[in-house]
Amino acid sequence: MTESNRAAMPLLYCALDVASRDAALALARPLINEVDGFKLGLEFFVAEGPAGVEALKALGRPIFLDLKLHDIPNTVAGAVRSATALAPKYLTLHAGGGVAMMQAAIEAASDEAAKRGVARPKLLAVTVLTSLDAGDLAAQAIASEPEAQVVRLATLAKSAGIDGAVCSPREIVALRQALGPALELVVPGIRPDWAATGDQKRVMTPTEAAQAGADVLVIGRPITGAPNPAGAARRIRAELTAVGARSA
Ligand code: C5P
Repeated sequence: MTESNRAAMPLLYCALDVASRDAALALARPLINEVDGFKLGLEFFVAEGPAGVEALKALGRPIFLDLKLHDIPNTVAGAVRSATALAPKYLTLHAGGGVAMMQAAIEAASDEAAKRGVARPKLLAVTVLTSLDAGDLAAQAIASEPEAQVVRLATLAKSAGIDGAVCSPREIVALRQALGPALELVVPGIRPDWAATGDQKRVMTPTEAAQAGADVLVIGRPITGAPNPAGAARRIRAELTAVGARSA
């Protein structure tokens, strides 16, 4: 893939936001050939642990392990080693943990992956949670607007050698401008114009996010809550393929 069309056809990951292995497998099975991978988060991992992740991995699709790690460097490095044993394609950690924590995470992932003969998970930085606004940042003595703080933390993450960042659709353009094409941008908060918005407020359609430069779209309920989840995923794919065709 060339740099110019890289962002035109983002990968599609489906978020499986459920707490049981059976529920996750039931959601995932019809989607195996329709999406590029599955995202498992804390709700699932706290309930089902590594064995639950292995059960989903057995479907043969890449796993995005959204654990949002944040602790002292030594502890995060240990958690990253344990997670690398599951060979996820993506693993998240909080950029707010600092450069030393992020560097320790990369080193641990590289070392553990080499020992196990698996690909190193791509580490993604979580910047400012979209649940926080300027008032929440001010309460933490952070004087920036959320978008400026997102760019600052993503810049730190890039300097530490992190592979990508999770960002809201509205932050894609600012991050691309500040950091260029090298940082992989993974974007939730996506709603096709035919799907309900739910609790997501600042949404973009798959087409808009692809045009803005997203590399990976994380979409949950518009697929998992649809009457025909495989059909919904195919419809989103068709939308993304059309963007790719237009920009080719
Ligand atoms: O169902 P929906 O498409 O809203 O799912 C989006 C997924 O992305 C969920 O797993 C959610 O926790 C996650 N997420 C998000 N917004 C963020 C970060 C993660 O919606 N800022």
